Amino acid sequence: MKHKLKQRQPLPVAERGTDHYQQIADQALENSIHYLNHAYAHKLCGAEGVVEFRDEGVWTYDNRGQRYLDCLGGYGIFNAGHRHPKIIAAVKAQLDQVCLHSQDLLNPWAAHLARQLASLAPGRLRYSFFCNSGSEAVEGAIKLARLYTGKSGIIATVNAYHGVSMGALSATGREVFRKPFEPLLPGFVHVPFGDSSAIEAAINDDTAAVILEPIQGEGGINVPPLGYLRKVRQITSKKHVLLILDEVQTGCGRTGRMFACEHEHIAPDIICLAKALSGGVVPIGCFMSTPKIWKVFEHNPTIHNSTFGGNPIACTAASAFLEVLAEEHLPARAALMGSYFMQQLKQLTKEYPGHLADVRGRGLLIGVEFTSKHLREAVQEELFHRGVLVAATMNADKTIRIEPPLIITETQINLMVTTLSSILADLTPAGRWRRRLMSRKELS
Ligand SMILES: Cc1ncc(COP(=O)(O)O)c(C=O)c1O
Repeated sequence: MKHKLKQRQPLPVAERGTDHYQQIADQALENSIHYLNHAYAHKLCGAEGVVEFRDEGVWTYDNRGQRYLDCLGGYGIFNAGHRHPKIIAAVKAQLDQVCLHSQDLLNPWAAHLARQLASLAPGRLRYSFFCNSGSEAVEGAIKLARLYTGKSGIIATVNAYHGVSMGALSATGREVFRKPFEPLLPGFVHVPFGDSSAIEAAINDDTAAVILEPIQGEGGINVPPLGYLRKVRQITSKKHVLLILDEVQTGCGRTGRMFACEHEHIAPDIICLAKALSGGVVPIGCFMSTPKIWKVFEHNPTIHNSTFGGNPIACTAASAFLEVLAEEHLPARAALMGSYFMQQLKQLTKEYPGHLADVRGRGLLIGVEFTSKHLREAVQEELFHRGVLVAATMNADKTIRIEPPLIITETQINLMVTTLSSILADLTPAGRWRRRLMSRKELS
């Protein structure tokens, strides 16, 4: 049966009353359940009717005026913070000139962004192809590797996350995402992450490329042993196999350098970017490679293409974001604030060894592993109630990711850590939180 709903729009601030907020929440929930996915009824925000209303800097505000310290960062989008004024202004100006491109004339915004990226990218990476998401960037990278080498084999890693479109999914290394959609693309194998000899052993005559995240994000913020990337670079170069680095999550300053591969002073043959490149304003993805490899696109430049890829609004947002990144020294900030954050969180693991199993990461890409999935869920929920947003990593459900905007301050980090600490303190035998936790457990 079709639901006839009277749609309501948010009112200007002065006219809003509490009832109106409630109506917006009710409608959002009803529409979500009936027209997006019924599972919204079971999500915390759905069950409690909490609607995202406004975002600014490191803060997200809901329909009730409650603010949340955003330590989730939209899964790694908001490196410059929410709605950075410079990026917003650039996009607003762009809207008054050209929005989407004709596809026929030269596109100066895409060309400028490509040049900016080439000046930042490591090694000989110079040419860019723009698309609209991380998955698309990975798709393009895989196609380029196959086209250039004339081979089909791709070596990826267990627990890797490269997206969920068919090609990217073939590289993603977790059964729960893969199994229902098999058969996936042929030629993909998965080896343990962090083990360069496993990569060497898996290479054969039909191997086109190795694809890796420098730090596995959705795999649980897994930092490989120091020297791993360097060793993989040596092996792939020696065996004439391409190295694709998926920096969709680790790129754009997140780990304390513009690209995470810079920590090991190596450059891949192909790099994938997306997420934060959007400036948190307009989606964009990209894969880059060297002039030598890009030659295979020369005789037929539309052999790989995208209607919306490289559109002026997205490219303008990305260009402004790259300027902000440099002007505000955000990669260096991520390194500084990240090591402070990690230090504070590691202190908590000493105080609560029964609850926290590990803290790991680099820069402001941090994973906090709990001793059980159940505990992680409960703490995440309570953080939400106490005004802090975090989320689990997709391939490791005991771990929450901490990926705040890189503009986060020490005071805001302290706020997050004391909030987490107070929740863990409530988990002591006398704490009310423990009682609630146990009743949840009994129910499951
Ligand atoms: C490393 C990595 N690659 C690719 C993707 C897929 O990106 P998207 O969701 O934009 O398709 C993700 C998303 O989380 C990611 O973390």
